[in-house]
Amino acid sequence: MSSKNVRLEVMQFLEKDVESLIEKYLIPVEKIWQPTDFLPNSEGNRFFEELTEIRELSKELPYDFWVVLVGDMITEEALPTYESWLMDVEGVNQVDGENAWAKWVRHWTAEENRHGDVLNKYLYLSGRVNMREIEKTTQHLIADGFDIGTDRDPYKNFVYTSFQELATYVSHNRVAKLAKEKGNKQLAKMCKIISGDEMRHHHAYSEFVERIFKVDPSQMMLAFHYMMKQKITMPAHFLRESGDKIGTAFEEFSNTAQRIGVYTSKDYVDILQKLINRWEIDKITNLSDEAEKARDYLMKLPNRMMRLADRIKIPENSFQFKWVEPARIK
Ligand SMILES: [Fe+2]
Ligand SMILES: [Fe+2]
Repeated sequence: MSSKNVRLEVMQFLEKDVESLIEKYLIPVEKIWQPTDFLPNSEGNRFFEELTEIRELSKELPYDFWVVLVGDMITEEALPTYESWLMDVEGVNQVDGENAWAKWVRHWTAEENRHGDVLNKYLYLSGRVNMREIEKTTQHLIADGFDIGTDRDPYKNFVYTSFQELATYVSHNRVAKLAKEKGNKQLAKMCKIISGDEMRHHHAYSEFVERIFKVDPSQMMLAFHYMMKQKITMPAHFLRESGDKIGTAFEEFSNTAQRIGVYTSKDYVDILQKLINRWEIDKITNLSDEAEKARDYLMKLPNRMMRLADRIKIPENSFQFKWVEPARIK
């Protein structure tokens, strides 16, 4: 039987537990936070006071901080790309009745949608950024899509999402810390609660992978190896500003995030190590010779990458984006 058919069988086998995994890892609409919980109430009498407070506190945050917050928001706003991608993964089926994997994707998307929503509204109210330029970048990014090298393979895609959810946890959590340091408690709370969602999602996707390791260890190991060897591409790697070519803004966005310590190449290696520990890669049994070799490669990879990460130099000066006009920031 081809490995593709085995993957489909594995996805069908795991599907019976997906309903209970939705209950375990996702929070019902009536219980979960909503963007307005962290924003001025536009129906309330204190709206203008609350708005003034947001705008005053915003003045304390530096240029690079805004660039990172904008880039993070745009990455969240490209959710249509991620949902349509995941719906097309082998074993996910949204037609012919209810497939539990399709339900997972919809419910996950519904939670994720609140992230871009709350950040977008905050940025709009802050008065610190050029929303029209940001909106153009978002439209470009959704139109440009992404290329993450996972094909329609559920194994590779779940490695990717396990990694990415943890990466977004790290970056939202660090932004929260920086905001708090500058006395912006409200923004800190907002980013902290987003990072909490990302952590839950990370645990969910990691459990999917864990379950696949139990039934198809060699192929799961090879998929993990494949993804890490080609490196995890960030979902916004096609980022561009208006009038520029595809992908041209990504590197400077990523440099900015490194410069202020929101997401660095060391974090990348830490995440890899966490996945190796979480899936107990050293203890997996019943591997083919090829998968044994893949395991060896993976076990050594964090050390190798950490040595490279130490050598990376990030430009000291801020890169100026159309999203944030320097004149508006002290
Ligand atoms: Fe998110
Ligand atoms: Fe996420």
